[in-house]
Amino acid sequence: MKLIIASNNKGKIREFKKILEPMGYEVLSQRESGIDVQPEENGTTFEENAAIKARAIYAVSKSATLADDSGIVIDALGGQPGVYSARYGTPDLDDEGRTALVLKNMQGVPDEERTARYVAVIHFIDENGNEISVRGTCEGRIGHEPVGENGFGYDPIFIYGDKTFAQHTEEFKNSVSHRANALKALAERLSEISEGK
Ligand code: IMP
Repeated sequence: MKLIIASNNKGKIREFKKILEPMGYEVLSQRESGIDVQPEENGTTFEENAAIKARAIYAVSKSATLADDSGIVIDALGGQPGVYSARYGTPDLDDEGRTALVLKNMQGVPDEERTARYVAVIHFIDENGNEISVRGTCEGRIGHEPVGENGFGYDPIFIYGDKTFAQHTEEFKNSVSHRANALKALAERLSEISEGK
């Protein structure tokens, strides 16, 4: 049975394959599936945006489909960047520019108020159209300057334990991340369903 991932990100596809192939799915990236839909992600929650992406692909393919939506939620910024993580600030900003903007907007915020979390929501639709939505989070703090070379996006300013995500190895990050936790939740839900619970 085919399962289409609404992404072409190799790292994400690898992680999704690990849990979905043992369940009998042949996992394809969106590009491999030949489906060219790019719906507007105009939801106001991670759940809505993940559902928009998954439903757009399912509507065309009628194959099992999985989409994810993720971002960083910073308490001192009232939950921003949140669902706007990939486009925080002005459109000309890159990852570095968005990270610098977060630090600027958090100037003067004391350490104990610099709490934040990464959030990932996975929306899965099976071949019959049944839908499952799961959420994973990863708690951390925002540093005062970017540190480390690994990862992407906000990783150089996201402190997990005593280091930033950009200092931790990819392997460690992938074992504790929001996406890892969402994937664990999905694997649990799917096995409950297959056991008829
Ligand atoms: P998307 O879910 O691929 O649309 O990603 C949303 C945005 O959230 C990314 O462009 C990043 O800015 C941010 N983000 C999500 N997950 C991570 C992560 O693991 N590290 C750093 N930034 C992330």
